[in-house]
Amino acid sequence: MAESMRGMKRSHRCTEVSNANIGEIVTVMGWVQKRRNLGNLIFIDLRDRSGILQIVFDSKDVSEEGMEKAAALRSEFVVAVTGKVVRRAGAVNENLATGEIEVQAHELRILSESETPPFPIEENIQTRDEVRLKYRYLDLRRPNLQRNLMLRSKVATEVRKFMAEEGFLEIETPILIKSTPEGARDYLVPSRVHPGSFYALPQSPQLFKQLLMCSGYDRYFQIAKCFRDEDLRADRQPEFTQIDMELSFVDIDDVIDVNERLLARIFKEAIGVEVPLPIPRMTWQEAMDRFGSDKPDTRFGMELKDVSEIVKDCGFGVFTGALAAGGSVRGINAEGQGSMPRKKIDALVEFAKTYGAKGLAYLCINEDGSYKSSFAKFMTEEELHALVEAMDGKPGDLLLFAADKNKVVWDVLGALRLEIAKSLGLLHKDEYKFMWITEFPLLEWSEDQNRFVAMHHPFTMPMEEDLDKLDTDPGAVRAKAYDITLNGTEIGGGSIRIHQNDIQSKMFEVLGFTKEQAQNQFGFLLDAFKYGVPPHAGLAYGLDRLIMLMAQEDSIREVIAFPKVKDASCLMSGAPDAVDPKQLNELEIAVVKKEM
Ligand code: AMO
Ligand code: AMP
Repeated sequence: MAESMRGMKRSHRCTEVSNANIGEIVTVMGWVQKRRNLGNLIFIDLRDRSGILQIVFDSKDVSEEGMEKAAALRSEFVVAVTGKVVRRAGAVNENLATGEIEVQAHELRILSESETPPFPIEENIQTRDEVRLKYRYLDLRRPNLQRNLMLRSKVATEVRKFMAEEGFLEIETPILIKSTPEGARDYLVPSRVHPGSFYALPQSPQLFKQLLMCSGYDRYFQIAKCFRDEDLRADRQPEFTQIDMELSFVDIDDVIDVNERLLARIFKEAIGVEVPLPIPRMTWQEAMDRFGSDKPDTRFGMELKDVSEIVKDCGFGVFTGALAAGGSVRGINAEGQGSMPRKKIDALVEFAKTYGAKGLAYLCINEDGSYKSSFAKFMTEEELHALVEAMDGKPGDLLLFAADKNKVVWDVLGALRLEIAKSLGLLHKDEYKFMWITEFPLLEWSEDQNRFVAMHHPFTMPMEEDLDKLDTDPGAVRAKAYDITLNGTEIGGGSIRIHQNDIQSKMFEVLGFTKEQAQNQFGFLLDAFKYGVPPHAGLAYGLDRLIMLMAQEDSIREVIAFPKVKDASCLMSGAPDAVDPKQLNELEIAVVKKEM
């Protein structure tokens, strides 16, 4: 029964019709949200991406045939309606932008019918994620997702406007590239013309944007698709989008300056939030020491304290043992949580173990000043008192300690403070706390590979004052790298790049690359640098993460039109999937099942 819209032209989106149009004839088109049939009056809520408008079919104005057609409407039918805008005869709906008006229909066309959708197209639904994602095209009709994607579009538009004003050129870089693993695993694409050879999909435009600096483009940006074959989490997808940029003849402060103004602009324009500038900065070391994380959530306190000095001679073997092994003992004070039931504390201990802790020592300070603790019996009264004092413990507080290698202690307490804050409702999504993290370690020791690997990437410039340590103590070299974090999420990162040949060679040497390996993987970049390379630096944001936080969502899936699930598949289209043997044949590829 699908009709054509010939002769009808949409005049307004649903909520573009307002009190100002009262008395006018309008034509609106959209989906039927719901229908109420009162016999000689039939109401429909018509929905499009702008919102909802009430349409009324009155048997006084509409033919019998027209009334029958209106009565046949069902949810999600697509219709076109022409009618007169009037003040509502019935009650005003304060929840709707169009709540004071309605359209008195005189023409209705059913443009297409709909089967009953597997879930209601509404703001809040209890439907399982798998069902939502299988019918993503219906899920995307829901106002939450429509708002999120409109926000995303708005941000992208503001980014483009701002970057153009600041003299950045938008330049596309290739998607089929040479595999140059930068950290995560590459997605590979087989070549038909060169059987046995593969392209990789870019993990980021890193090398190409550096080449563009070599070519003199000076300021580049791109809203770029990136691909990483890594394990997925709430804030990770196998394909995601970066706002990527690179600048020539700049140092850290220049990059930070332009990015602070960019962030302030998009937060103001897209969600009306003022970002106070300058954004505070913290070194990596300070972030780890105070928050146990290189992406500290600074919306609340509960900071880590190093109590190694205080407990170094105490009688508790767990503490002194960790110190003797070169580790540390640190704690957090969950203020006011001293009466937490034992079961809940035990759950925190189990939680800590999932982050690598061997245990978690606790001390509750009772209201009368006495202690309830898992380790008090190993310590003297004086030792306990000194420990409590160091933690600013007051009656009613709960102190939690971890003793281990620094990395484990940071991970455990960093995660624990977030977990406790979450359970206490301290994480307000409408509060935006930004932080620059600077002076990252240049290198990280990889136990698997038994060598240093670049913490950011091999082109990141060491801090000048640490250059001499590249030979003597590589692990202590700090990088001219910076991350921008928001509410405990890394939303972006970048660095000053190495543009001096000798430092780059040294870097490859420290990373354990032979000259041939470096030339084979990155030769085109190294060659380009022989022909006059400007000092340059850059940064890339995870656009999905940024929008997730702006939209106050918990997962980037809620801000990506067609996301993938945990095993990197698309529940709607069924990708990835087997292909026709003919296709494989052309590529000279045979699938060999791994023996289990
Ligand atoms: P980096 O690897 O830090 O830097 O990536 C930049 C930002 O991209 C986001 N991001 C992701 N978002 C969703 N899913 C993923 N799997 C994912 N991986 C990363 C993060 C991160 O901060 N070329 C460098 C940038 C530079 O040095 O200029 C780069 O890619 O928000
Ligand atoms: P134990 O003597 O092993 O029973 O441990 C005494 C207390 O110390 C228990 O509450 C343990 O959870 C805690 N504990 C054990 N290992 C550690 C550790 N590495 N850091 C902090 N506390 C620990």
